Amino acid sequence: MNSPVMQGLNLNTPSYVKNARLIAWVADMAALCKPESIYWCDGSEEEYDALCAQLVEAGTFRKLDPVKRPNSYLACSDPNDVARVEDRTFICSQKKEDAGPTNNWMAPAEMRATLAPLFDGCMRGRTMYVVPFSMGPLGSHISHIGIELTDSAYVAVNQKIMTRMGKAVYDVLGVNGEFVPCMHTVGAPLQSGQQDVKWPCNKTKYIVHYPETREIWSYGSGYGGNALLGKKCFALRIASTMGRDQGWLAEHMLILGVTNPQGKKYHVAAAFPSACGKTNFAMLIPPKGFEGWKVTTIGDDIAWIKPQSDGRMYAINPEAGYFGVAPGTNTQTNPNCMASLDKNVIFTNVALTDDGDVWWEGMGPAPAHLTDWQGKDWTPELAKETGAKAAHPNARFTVAAINNPALDSAWDDADGVPIDAFIFGGRRSTTVPLVTEARNWMEGVYMAATMGSETTAAAAGQQGVVRRDPFAMLPFCGYNMSDYFQHWLDLEHKLEASGHTLPKIFCVNWFRKGEDGKFVWPGYGENMRVLKWMIDRIEGQSAGHEHLFGLSPAYEDINWTGLEFSPAQFKTVTSIDNEAWQKELQLHTELFQQLAYHLPRELSETKAEIEKRLAA
Ligand code: OXD
Ligand code: MN
Repeated sequence: MNSPVMQGLNLNTPSYVKNARLIAWVADMAALCKPESIYWCDGSEEEYDALCAQLVEAGTFRKLDPVKRPNSYLACSDPNDVARVEDRTFICSQKKEDAGPTNNWMAPAEMRATLAPLFDGCMRGRTMYVVPFSMGPLGSHISHIGIELTDSAYVAVNQKIMTRMGKAVYDVLGVNGEFVPCMHTVGAPLQSGQQDVKWPCNKTKYIVHYPETREIWSYGSGYGGNALLGKKCFALRIASTMGRDQGWLAEHMLILGVTNPQGKKYHVAAAFPSACGKTNFAMLIPPKGFEGWKVTTIGDDIAWIKPQSDGRMYAINPEAGYFGVAPGTNTQTNPNCMASLDKNVIFTNVALTDDGDVWWEGMGPAPAHLTDWQGKDWTPELAKETGAKAAHPNARFTVAAINNPALDSAWDDADGVPIDAFIFGGRRSTTVPLVTEARNWMEGVYMAATMGSETTAAAAGQQGVVRRDPFAMLPFCGYNMSDYFQHWLDLEHKLEASGHTLPKIFCVNWFRKGEDGKFVWPGYGENMRVLKWMIDRIEGQSAGHEHLFGLSPAYEDINWTGLEFSPAQFKTVTSIDNEAWQKELQLHTELFQQLAYHLPRELSETKAEIEKRLAA
């Protein structure tokens, strides 16, 4: 009796939508959520402009000064809705062990029973947007399609930037094509005549994944990864389980191209937890001493990597835009990123200047007065007194990849780019050296699996605590972490059979500190020096020096032209302290105890080998 058609709600299905499963699903979801109307997004510029105008009208968006920041908007969220909610994120596999000890789990039937009353009527008084998107180049054999149903126009316009969104998706989908259903609501139905708020959301939040049926259900939040379901929910959590089943990888990795002065090009994929300079590395500008070198961006956050018949691993960026953290970004540390933000940007939770532009901590000198992200007056004096931040520490920009001046010409290639090396990095003030090459695949997987990163004050309140973040996938792996390790280990044997050299694996740490508590390594563009050593190693042009758990460069193996960095400083960032490593290995033991179910035996054996060398 609930059918929306019966209630007089027209599904409005456009004639070019031919997929029966999709049409039936939209009808079912409309019956459940009871929106006032349904709108099928076509992805056009006119539609984007109209939705943005509607968001301005609703007070969600503020249009920024058209000269200073053409075609750009600022949205400020509800203070209860400012970040991903990991504690409200669930992997609902049939068996608890398949979600593993690092994910929240609930049985699918129990979760469905929990969500049903929440979704019932959740879109009353609102429009349900049907948002078709492709993760990856349209029609690529590496890509997959998702359809997000959402009651948030903010989500629809962000998805236009972040994904290949629009009508053309239906051509790829055809009559019988597969898609991942992504159901999203802010969970704020409107009674008849009720005035809407600027940022509707609900205190109750659920970010739910059913990996076996490949569904996403998100309730209560309109922010970032909670609501833009193509990103963390689909491209990492659901896609990692697809990769497990189908023999490929969905990774929390940037992808960059690096071209040497002779024109030879390499591709690396690099995994870092949040707040480790991922965007800066993806947009690196080579420093003095590297004339003729070029670094180009394929992706800044996520990589889908599929082994091909030539035995190489090819990667695509499933996204089409960047949803980056604004605070700390400036023209000195990341000029490419700042140039990307010149126009056509949606900013969320940054501060507004009196002349209609944006500002955030770490952008440069603070103006004398701002409106902060919560709409309050802000001055540098007030900040000094109270520590009040003008921009939320997790304030974001949403911008199309094509805005990036360092965009790689192959970024949209349907076949992806061949990966020459994987890099794993965390934020560690001690213990982990600047760069280490794994001597083999197994050792590389061990490094990635035991990776840790210090929490920053902004993120966790407690500074300097090392949180284990295997492969930088802790919040994003859609299945049991130990099975994920096994999946990585199995790839070696699959790829080896093709006779091709496997990508090298490196582990980096840009964050070692000296006795004065200051970072020793200059980072940013200077990371090119480390990247160049990796390329030398790929080409067999530099010796690696063996230590406890891998190979590292000697001082003279690095090109220092244009940078004053002494052998003593180099020692500070590369030294291996046996005592610190004994403690470190105890932490690996704790991690392995936590992940004991299905932990690959090879990982414990590799640890035992390191322990033996350490004792010797
Ligand atoms: C992101 C994250 O937003 O990793 O990319 O949290
Ligand atoms: Mn990320």
